[in-house]
Amino acid sequence: MENKKLLEIKKSLDKDLTGNYDNKTLNDLKIKYLGKKGLITELNSEIKNVLNEEKKAFGMKVNELRNEFNDFYEKKRKELELEELNLKLEKEAIDISLPSTKVSMGAPHILEKVIEEIEDVFLSMGYDVVDGPEVEEDRYNFELLNIPKGHPARDAQDTFYIDGEEILLRSQTSPVQVRTMLKGEGKVPIRMICPGKTYRRDDDDASHSHQFMQIEGLLVDKDISLSDLKGTMNVLFRRLFGSNIETRFRPSYYQFTEPSVEVDITCVNCSGKGCGVCKHTGWLTVVGAGVVHPNVLRNSGYDPSVWSGFAFGFGAERLAMMKYDINDIRTFYNTDLREVKTFDREDEE
Ligand code: DAH
Repeated sequence: MENKKLLEIKKSLDKDLTGNYDNKTLNDLKIKYLGKKGLITELNSEIKNVLNEEKKAFGMKVNELRNEFNDFYEKKRKELELEELNLKLEKEAIDISLPSTKVSMGAPHILEKVIEEIEDVFLSMGYDVVDGPEVEEDRYNFELLNIPKGHPARDAQDTFYIDGEEILLRSQTSPVQVRTMLKGEGKVPIRMICPGKTYRRDDDDASHSHQFMQIEGLLVDKDISLSDLKGTMNVLFRRLFGSNIETRFRPSYYQFTEPSVEVDITCVNCSGKGCGVCKHTGWLTVVGAGVVHPNVLRNSGYDPSVWSGFAFGFGAERLAMMKYDINDIRTFYNTDLREVKTFDREDEE
């Protein structure tokens, strides 16, 4: 069977299907052969000019041409797709050798770190870490701690009153002692520390801040004495500052303890040799403490003829200042992140 048109198209196909195409020319080619008026499509109307006995063979030839074109078209289209993908991957490739953008990481505040360290020491000795309100009632902050109205000790703790004389910002964390005992309902042992914010009407300077952190401690059980306090202080300060730290007790006076003491530790700056930091005494005063006053036990529901306890309280900033060699308490409340970060780095070295 010979058909001129068929032969012409076959020839044209052979020529066209060898070139290199982009998407546009490939689609133009599809229109050229298979479009509504495409060369292969038009062969369908040619069939009427074909002899009856050759119609079948002619139809098959047309199909062959169509398949040939479609195969070529599909193959090319896939090749182009792959090419495009490769190009895109190449363009979007990530150079892992380039330096990355610096992400600034957050870190715990140094004061918080010291407090956590202290908490860990006491947790390991079986203490609970408890909380109490910063807006406090006069009776917890003073009255039940054996500091009656008009007592001069109240002046020393120059207080922020909120509502008349009854509601105030706590001037110490000691009220949490009373709250914990009242909650304990006479049960023993009580072992707690309470880190928390306290407030006093002080003018801010290098060593004073109207808001500061205290850590209160209380232990109540049978036959508790000053020597238990001594042992506990030794554990705390050796864990914080090293095993060669010594403690010494000096008599003092607080309304809620009897006897009362000040706890000194070996100067962490000169190891006790004497320097400017310890005013050449070799010692630093860090804690107020004592044996819980019978009135305080009684006020809190514990019979002082059966139970006894020790209590202590200290400023967290002061310890953190020693640990990080900071000489201005305002550093902790400065919002300049660069300063906080400086200490972070020192800590990692
Ligand atoms: N609350 C005292 C203050 O702010 C510190 C203190 C002294 C706490 C003796 C105590 C203690 O628990 O027993 O100065």
